[in-house]
Amino acid sequence: MQGRILDIAVGIRPERQSGWASIDYVRPVPDLPVLPKTLLSLELMSQERCTELNEIADLLRQDLGAVARVFHFAKDEQAQSEERLIRLEDCISSIGVRGCLKILADSVVLPSSLWTAICRIWEHSAEIAECCGRIAAEIGAPVSEEDAYLVGLFHELDEFVEVLAWESKLLFVNHPAYVAQRVAEQWGLPDAVLQYFSERQSTGLQLLWRAIVDKAHFCCTRRLTLG
Ligand SMILES: [Fe+2]
Repeated sequence: MQGRILDIAVGIRPERQSGWASIDYVRPVPDLPVLPKTLLSLELMSQERCTELNEIADLLRQDLGAVARVFHFAKDEQAQSEERLIRLEDCISSIGVRGCLKILADSVVLPSSLWTAICRIWEHSAEIAECCGRIAAEIGAPVSEEDAYLVGLFHELDEFVEVLAWESKLLFVNHPAYVAQRVAEQWGLPDAVLQYFSERQSTGLQLLWRAIVDKAHFCCTRRLTLG
């Protein structure tokens, strides 16, 4: 199984094992786990006669792996079309509830030893995402609450590499944020997520998405400290 993840994350071009060229082999498969509780809740929703689209989206938004898989699938579906779906609701509507269930059920099975770390990242990401969304709502236009939420949800994408044992030695030779940006691009995540990782490679200026994510961390830490 680890071999599969390694293959999916990065392939090393034999004749050129250093530098940016190695990242060209990042493959467009979001082999991320989906939480069992997400699958169970979606299964129950799919059996109801009528389910609100926003209820499904709210459920999936709590699970980083589910969101990545839906965006990736929608990206592949749209490959032939001019239109690009950039909202999670639009992707779900295009795929259908049964389709989403099928995509999520096909999730990778991880060894139990990894679940603690995965759950920590998933939980932290959802918490930061919620804070980012609230901050964006306070700031208002041009920052979209939906974009801010997704930036928060994927802000530790480079951390997955280490936890999931994706070829970390190779990746950290390069800039982890660059790798995360490329992976986000391959997975069809919204432009705001790509911009966040682009900002992470900049030095000096505190840029928009970085500022929002930093503030979200500050707010969450403060909330924990104050109880
Ligand atoms: Fe974080």
